[in-house]
Amino acid sequence: MNLTLKIWRQDGADVAGRLVTYQVSEISEDMSFLEMLDTLNEQLIASGEEPVAFDSDCREGICGMCGLMISGQAHGPEVTTTCQLHMRSFKDGDTITVEPWRAEAFPVVRDLVVDRSAFDRIIQAGGFISVNTGAAPEANNTPVPKVKADRAFDTATCIGCGACVAACPNASGMLFMGAKVTHLSELPQGQAERDARVVSMVNQHDHEGFGGCTNIGECSAACPKEIPLDVISTLNADFRKAKRGA
Ligand code: FES
Repeated sequence: MNLTLKIWRQDGADVAGRLVTYQVSEISEDMSFLEMLDTLNEQLIASGEEPVAFDSDCREGICGMCGLMISGQAHGPEVTTTCQLHMRSFKDGDTITVEPWRAEAFPVVRDLVVDRSAFDRIIQAGGFISVNTGAAPEANNTPVPKVKADRAFDTATCIGCGACVAACPNASGMLFMGAKVTHLSELPQGQAERDARVVSMVNQHDHEGFGGCTNIGECSAACPKEIPLDVISTLNADFRKAKRGA
């Protein structure tokens, strides 16, 4: 298929960006979206132009590196990561706009690459449990009810891609933070630091410049791992409890 691409080009963090139009041809519907961008970059390099900078690592929907805003939708028209989006989701002759995540807390580094280290700092603030390392403990020594184990596992699937922030009109990181807080607060190992964790993470989230949640739900709709919106309720309940000291 032949496509028109309008791609955000920005030479660095402190310079203005602009949309630049490119034509690509003979794109197979079996290509991933990133392979289509690879094809564009080969074309640009062959003609002596700068290739488009974009992030990727695993290309298997695991690492969360590859987020792009594709025609106004985080990760594009399917509920998946950009690397798992295939060109069969588009039609011959389509015009596709490709932009970086837009959020104050995710500054543009270059072209489609943003700095998502704000998420790392939220995790550093409390998204962990403090345990001595060593041999893996016997799992049956710490029974976890099935319902809690399932919810902890489901929320642990968050890959920190940032689509929730990009999709939210408030650029809130509360779905990401809610997933991390819920994952640990469902498990016995997460109880000792439960109150301190949620307060530290929320403080860091606000310090980074993410907005608050106003229950719009775009975050959960855009999430490639389908993290449910109610993790934000868990986050808020844990935060209130910690602040009350109850
Ligand atoms: S490149 Fe790892 S999730 Fe897309």
